[in-house]
Amino acid sequence: MKQLLVSVRSFALKLMILMAFCILSDCFDPLDPNGNITVTFDVLDYPQNGGYAARVTIRNFYQYRHVEKPGWQIGWGWAKGEIILKMSGAYATDSGDCKNFASLKPHCCKQNPIMADLWPGAASDDGGRTVEGCCRGGVMSAWAIDPSLSFSAFEMTVGNLPANTSYPPANLTLFAPGLGYTCGPVQDSESTVFLDYGGRRKIRAFRTMKSVCTYSSFLANRAPVCCVSLSTFYSPQITDCPKCSCGCRDSASDGVSCSSQSSSSSLGGNGVDDNKLQCTDHMCPVRIHWHVKNNYMRFWRVKLTISNYNLRKNYSDWNLVVQHPGFSKKAIAYSFNATTLPTVGIEDEVALFWGLPYYNSELTEAAAAAAGGGFGSVTTDIILEKDLDEFTLMNGWALPRRVYFGGEECQMPLPDAFPMLPNGGFRIRSSPRHRRRYLFFLILLVAIWLELRL
Ligand SMILES: *[C@@H]1O[C@H](CO)[C@@H](O)[C@H](O)[C@H]1NC(C)=O
Ligand SMILES: *[C@@H]1O[C@H](CO)[C@@H](O)[C@H](O)[C@H]1NC(C)=O
Ligand SMILES: *[C@@H]1O[C@H](CO)[C@@H](O)[C@H](O)[C@H]1NC(C)=O
Ligand SMILES: *[C@@H]1O[C@H](CO)[C@@H](O)[C@H](O)[C@H]1NC(C)=O
Ligand SMILES: *[C@@H]1O[C@H](CO)[C@@H](O)[C@H](O)[C@H]1NC(C)=O
Repeated sequence: MKQLLVSVRSFALKLMILMAFCILSDCFDPLDPNGNITVTFDVLDYPQNGGYAARVTIRNFYQYRHVEKPGWQIGWGWAKGEIILKMSGAYATDSGDCKNFASLKPHCCKQNPIMADLWPGAASDDGGRTVEGCCRGGVMSAWAIDPSLSFSAFEMTVGNLPANTSYPPANLTLFAPGLGYTCGPVQDSESTVFLDYGGRRKIRAFRTMKSVCTYSSFLANRAPVCCVSLSTFYSPQITDCPKCSCGCRDSASDGVSCSSQSSSSSLGGNGVDDNKLQCTDHMCPVRIHWHVKNNYMRFWRVKLTISNYNLRKNYSDWNLVVQHPGFSKKAIAYSFNATTLPTVGIEDEVALFWGLPYYNSELTEAAAAAAGGGFGSVTTDIILEKDLDEFTLMNGWALPRRVYFGGEECQMPLPDAFPMLPNGGFRIRSSPRHRRRYLFFLILLVAIWLELRL
C-alpha cells in the first residue's frame, strides 16, 4: 500500500514537472496540435477473379500548412507481390517491368510504386472517368482555408492476389512536396461510410486502412523562410528583421546566393538555382512587416505587409498566421481573407490570413514585380476593436507574439529591440508571459516541496 502511494506520488510529480515545462516552452506546434495528413485506403470491391479495388484519399488536416506545387507524391511497398492493374485520378510515375503480366496490361508492376496526382483536365487511364477530388496537380489547401480543396483522391484496382484478400501497404512515404513528413503504419480502422443518391443511401467500405503522416521542419531541413520587422506610429524607430535571420549575406556556404539588383535581366532563366535572393541583412526569402498605424477611441489599426525577396519563386496561395491577444475582439482585414483559428491552451488569439483570388493570392517574385508583373509584396490594413481592459501601447503589447508564413515560424526581433513609447513609460504590467512564468515557478515549488516531504 505504501509503495503504491509512493509510486502514485512520483507519477504525479513527473506529470507536474512536465506540465510546468510545457507551460513555459510549448511542447510542439501549439497553434495546430492535431495537424496531420491522413491517408486512407478504402477497399470498395473484391472482384471474383482476385485482388481488390480501392479508393485512396489523402486529407490535409493541417490548419495552415498547404501542399503546394509541384504537389504530393505518395509511395509504398507491396507486401505480397501485388500489381496495379488500373488507376484513375492519379498515375504511377514508373510502370516497372510488367512482362510477366503482359496479358493483363497492368498500370504498374513495381514493388515500390510512386503515385502522383493528374493535372487539371487530364483524362484518367480508364477512359476519362474521373474521381471526385482528383486531378488538381497534387495541390491541397490548408484545412482552415478551404476544406473542400484540402483533399485528393484516386482509385486503383490491385491484382496478383487471391480472391477476397487485401494486405495493408507497407512503408508509406509522402512527399508533399519534398521530405518532412513521417507516416505511421497503415492500420485497419473503422470502415468509411460513403453517401450515394445525394445522401439517401449509405455504402460501407469492405475494409478501411489508414496511416497518419505528420510534418517536422527539422526533418524537412528547410532553411528558415521568413522574418518579422516592426514599426509604430508612436516611435520613429523601425525594428528591422534580426540580422542573419535566415542566413548571412557573406556566407555562400548555404547554397543561397544573393543579387543586389532586382531587375529581371539578371535572371539566367534555366531555373537551376531556384533560391536566388535579393541581398538583405536578414537574407530571408519573405519578410513580414507589422506597422501599428493608428490608435482611435475604440479601435486601432495595423498595416500588415508581406514582401517576397526570392527572385525565383512566386508563393501561390500563401498564408500567414499571427498570434496576438488583440484578435480576441472583432478584426477586419481589408485586402486579405481572414479567420481566427480554434486554439486550445494558448492565451492569445490566433488569426489566419490569406490572399483574395485573382487579386493578391499570388505573392510574386521581386523580379516579376520590377518587370511590371506585380508588386513583389501584398499588403492590407487591419482594423481591430479594442478590449479596453487589455489594450495598451506599452511594453510592445500591440506587436505580434508569433508569426508563421506558409506554416513555417518566422524569426521575430528580440523584445529589447521593439519600438518604444517616447516617454519610456516603464510600468511593468503582468503580461500573459509573466503570468506564465509565475505559474511555472509556482508548480515547480510545489513539486519540490512534495518531493521533500516524501
Ligand atoms: C489527424 O487529424 C484529424 C482531424 O483533425 C484528427 O481527428 C485525428 O485525431 C488526427 N490524428 C492524429 C494521430 O493526430
Ligand atoms: C519496408 O522497409 C524495410 C526497411 O527499409 C524493408 O526491409 C522492407 O522490405 C520494406 N517492406 C516492403 C513491403 O517494401
Ligand atoms: C474567403 O475564404 C472563404 C473560404 O475559403 C471563401 O468562401 C470566401 O469566398 C473568401 N472570401 C473572399 C472575399 O474571397
Ligand atoms: C469470396 O467471398 C464471397 C462472399 O463471401 C464468396 O461467395 C466467394 O466464394 C469467395 N471467393 C473465394 C475464391 O473464396
Ligand atoms: C511569377 O509570376 C510572374 C507574373 O505572374 C511571372 O511573370 C513569372 O514568370 C513567375 N515566376 C516564376 C518563377 O514562376
